[in-house]
Amino acid sequence: MIKIPKYVEDLKPYKAGKPIDELFREYGLKKIVKLASNENPLGPSPKAMEAIKKHIIEIHRYTNPAAFDLVNAIAKKINKSPNQIVTGSGSDSLLQYIISAFSEEGDELITSKGSFIGWYVNVNKYGRISKQVEQNNNRFDLEKIAENITEKTKIIYLANPNNPTGTIFTKQEFENFLLKVPENILIVLDEAYTVYAQSNPDYPNGLEYDNKNLIVLRTLSKAYGLAGIRIGFAVGHEELIKILYKVKLPFEPNSLAQVAAIAALNDDDFLRKTVELNNKSLKKFKQIFDELSIKFLPSSANFFLMLFADEDYTVKFKDECLKKGLILRHVKSFGIPNGIRINSGTDEETEFAINVISQVQNQLLKEYNLQPNI
Ligand SMILES: Cc1ncc(COP(=O)(O)O)c(C=O)c1O
Repeated sequence: MIKIPKYVEDLKPYKAGKPIDELFREYGLKKIVKLASNENPLGPSPKAMEAIKKHIIEIHRYTNPAAFDLVNAIAKKINKSPNQIVTGSGSDSLLQYIISAFSEEGDELITSKGSFIGWYVNVNKYGRISKQVEQNNNRFDLEKIAENITEKTKIIYLANPNNPTGTIFTKQEFENFLLKVPENILIVLDEAYTVYAQSNPDYPNGLEYDNKNLIVLRTLSKAYGLAGIRIGFAVGHEELIKILYKVKLPFEPNSLAQVAAIAALNDDDFLRKTVELNNKSLKKFKQIFDELSIKFLPSSANFFLMLFADEDYTVKFKDECLKKGLILRHVKSFGIPNGIRINSGTDEETEFAINVISQVQNQLLKEYNLQPNI
């Protein structure tokens, strides 16, 4: 028998939702709208699609192992040296490189409860000690996180805006936190939703900080509409980036992801439309949540987190929406069993979702014999 490490035995494989074809058949649906994965409802950046078409005839070639052109394009865009940048197949891939390069078994990795599942999974995958600090008012509690640092602490992971709450910590809170964290502890600042948060003057832009123990993660999966092709990048002091190149797989991200990203980074028109549509859709959701007395958190991202009275009601709500063709994300595995996440949609998707949510909420309130303002 092959002996499997206990921490690997304990992992659970990624649980995918039902395939869409099966949902059509099972519930006899005519239409399905998926607002469960924080994807861009506008689709991919058109410039990225053009770039992919143009370069598809070259996929028999290995790409540049360090994604030279892409790294230089990112450096130019964000005004950093290419030595401060490494790219990967999504920021999820970079998270595992960070954990494997900067920590070892027995080290303690701190983050918040109710944060990005990808972080928790990667920490467990490497058998590191996962420490999760309670949130304060559904936000990362940076003061508490700093108080929880011990001699074993190696990495602190922060998501700003956070997924699945959509909440942010402020510039002031972040700067106070930086003063408290010793230089031998790595801070990972995951800014997957930064494009949606940047207009808020209190939101800290991680790229403005040159701390030697800070790595900022960005992805093109959300606002740039490239989730399926897998592309993200990390920015930090060049000594840290050098280490990440030691563990990174060569030829990652793939050649089409690289050309798509170069094109998308300069698609300002697409980015503007994306943010406009997001604001419009979230505004409509906010209105209907207020009307239906559905509790939700203030969001600086492209989604809202709805909160219900208990897990039982939450599961029922998600299942009833699914039966009517609306796919949402129950975020129990993120540590919030009474939460459902919904991301912004096109005008048509938003109207569809509003209709389904209204029907389901009214139906369940009757079934549970509850008042709307629970
Ligand atoms: C906070 C956060 N970080 C990282 C990711 C992963 O992004 P990628 O598609 O680049 O792996 C997500 C995706 O949901 C996210 O919400």
